[in-house]
Amino acid sequence: MKVLFATSEIAPWVKTGGLGDVAAALPPALARTGCDVRVLLPRYPALREAFPDARAIVSLPEFGGRLPAAELFLAQPAGAPPLLLLDCPMLFDRPGNPYLGPEGRDWLDNHLRFGLLSRVAARLASHASPLDWRPDILHCNDWQTALGPYYLRFYEPGGAASVMTIHNLAFQGVFAPQLLDELGLTGRDWHIDGVEYYGQLSFLKAGLRHADWITTVSPTYAREIQSEAEGMGLAGLLQSRAAQLTGILNGIDKEVWNPATDAYLPAHYDREHLEGKTQCKRALQGELGLMERDDVPLFGVVSRLTQQKGLDLVAAIGDALAALPAQLAVLGSGDKTLEEAFAALAARHPGQVAVQIGFSEALAHRIEAGADCFLMPSRFEPCGLNQMYSLAYGTPPMVRATGGLADTVTDCTPETLANGRANGFVCGPATAGALLDTVRRAATCWQDKPLWRALQENGMACDFGWAQPARRYFELYRLLRPT
Ligand code: ADP
Ligand code: GLC
Repeated sequence: MKVLFATSEIAPWVKTGGLGDVAAALPPALARTGCDVRVLLPRYPALREAFPDARAIVSLPEFGGRLPAAELFLAQPAGAPPLLLLDCPMLFDRPGNPYLGPEGRDWLDNHLRFGLLSRVAARLASHASPLDWRPDILHCNDWQTALGPYYLRFYEPGGAASVMTIHNLAFQGVFAPQLLDELGLTGRDWHIDGVEYYGQLSFLKAGLRHADWITTVSPTYAREIQSEAEGMGLAGLLQSRAAQLTGILNGIDKEVWNPATDAYLPAHYDREHLEGKTQCKRALQGELGLMERDDVPLFGVVSRLTQQKGLDLVAAIGDALAALPAQLAVLGSGDKTLEEAFAALAARHPGQVAVQIGFSEALAHRIEAGADCFLMPSRFEPCGLNQMYSLAYGTPPMVRATGGLADTVTDCTPETLANGRANGFVCGPATAGALLDTVRRAATCWQDKPLWRALQENGMACDFGWAQPARRYFELYRLLRPT
């Protein structure tokens, strides 16, 4: 089974969120099921630096419109499938975030950058591929590669079957209709079954309409997105494809997210020996300038700061949380208003609330380990990885019952404690009041050491590895593989 996995991010080199983690871990897990996988992504500066020995293997001519000529480089990361790096310096040789310019706004040519990535994915999956290696399956991820299945069907035919995975329906790759020609598309593509979407050009819509199969990253989200309320304008289309839409829960990479071996941590621990976690909490308090106390619970947040994540609710209850008393450690970046709200909260509660605006892999690991409870009150959450990292780190997560959060976290009640399923806290509606009630409930539970220990152990016993999800993708590929 040969699989071309097309993505716009890959951890640890290029990561803005969970897609980066998935692209780093799922392909190796697929390889372990026996698939021959190659990962296609742009040759961003971070990947040029990470793989100085990558070699050019083929040139790709211009594709029409304003899609420029490019080259493919082959790189071999240790212990993972080969990377096919799409080299086109005028589009990809730019610093920083893969989607945003220095001002924090989308690059104006993102349609070309990810249009080219999609087109090349389709070419490599077609009979016209310049490579000897021809995939059975083209697996695309999110809007950045969503024109792949479309190009494959209408412009690069005769090749692989396509799978389109939705990691987040909120990002759809919607552009002005005038850009149609630049993508090498024509008036023939401009209709309701093509790339047109309410008068705009939508990458994701085209991919969802024309992929042979659609997956998303949890069973609950797969159901939610077919409802008008949560379908973000695509519910009708997704309903019409319900027979080819599956939710496969993401896994976590246990080599990267394991408190027994995590190189970012000052001490290690596992389910039987949790002493190291106390040291991690102390060290985190020291690192962030929090009071080094073990008699108050420490709540942690690591997140993109956006409306999706419900962190405005955390900011809103910050003062009440500090008064419990409890501590709060926040790592995140994104929405400027939220960044300012958290900075102001920290300024009001020195020693009790610590806020770091930015992106730090190391600190993310130390918060997962050092916090007592992880806050993730998302308004919607396709899968969510941080709640699974928290479970693995003995840090019961507090979540809303939505998407993958509903599929992974079981609220702590007398019943779920008795049957051994309790592993965190579920708060009700997305309101500050509901969150504060749940924070209070968790702080009370935390005082009951045996109860808390049971919660931690139940969470640490959950197996969210990639082996099972990879097998499910493999089964799907088998079903779709052209004969
Ligand atoms: P999403 O993809 O919606 O952002 P996920 O929970 O799936 O949410 O994945 C987020 C990933 O990004 C996790 O690995 C998390 O640790 C990481 N992350 C988010 N914000 C930061 C940050 N500011 N610093 C470091 N890692 C972060
Ligand atoms: C998205 C979602 C998140 C999911 C991640 C990886 O960014 O917001 O819930 O875990 O993709 O699939």
